[in-house]
Amino acid sequence: MNLRIDLLRELASAKHAMALTGAGISAESGVPTFRGADGLWSRLNPQELASFDAFLRNPDLVTEWYNHRREIANHAVPNGGHLALVQMETLFPDFTLVTQNIDNLHRRAGSKNVVELHGNIERNYCIECGKRYDGDAFEENESFKCPACGGLVRPDIVWFGEMLPADEWKRAEFAARKAEVIFVVGTSAVVYPAAELPVTVKQNGGKIIEVNIEATPLSSIADATLQGPASEILSDIVKQLMELQGIA
Ligand code: OAD
Repeated sequence: MNLRIDLLRELASAKHAMALTGAGISAESGVPTFRGADGLWSRLNPQELASFDAFLRNPDLVTEWYNHRREIANHAVPNGGHLALVQMETLFPDFTLVTQNIDNLHRRAGSKNVVELHGNIERNYCIECGKRYDGDAFEENESFKCPACGGLVRPDIVWFGEMLPADEWKRAEFAARKAEVIFVVGTSAVVYPAAELPVTVKQNGGKIIEVNIEATPLSSIADATLQGPASEILSDIVKQLMELQGIA
């Protein structure tokens, strides 16, 4: 890891900090990412699986696809990257973890102040009456009808063409406007509006620290780009911050 000492000192004394995570932080837990040669969207068409139209056209197929992803997420174990962010939350007086992931691994790891921009695969709701069915509502590989009204039950996640949950987005923007630093971890930074958050931090005078195995469109404006697996790099950052804060 290669963070300049003056930058590290500045980070260590920050009052308001945040992280934005993407699929890459869960890659080391065995959860597939979306883009790149091995990404889900290189093999599958998002319009056929991740849109409301697709769900209405073929609810069984879409339900089966999300059951499959839920199973992977449920069996995955939080890795060193998730755990380093749990520690990071204790190092700053104010720390917000904004994630684009739906796999619930940040909460399972123990992070508390989590903003889920794209929803959570553990939650489901009826598209007719809104009744919620959380946890393992879907056990069969076919669409699930609401026992209360007969409407289709869908996962509580954001599909292509849908708005982000308003409260979650407001919390994320609020955090970005006051953050002195944002750690941008394991995201290709091409999906908006999530990719706007680091820009908001920068425009308000904060620093961008990017952690990724490769360069992204954000790298050119980042104050530091740390290349390598999130688990290693984040653990190193936490260790160094703790040393500087006299905790280690
Ligand atoms: P992507 O698949 O677009 O990007 C994953 C990023 O993680 C890439 O930049 C990889 O280089 C990086 N990466 C992979 N392994 C890593 C590791 N071990 N350590 C650090 N970085 C690693 O995933 P997202 O940016 O999360 O939206 O994608 C954003 C959104 O696009 C998703 O939330 C999803 C998708 O369509 C919805 O479903 C609404």
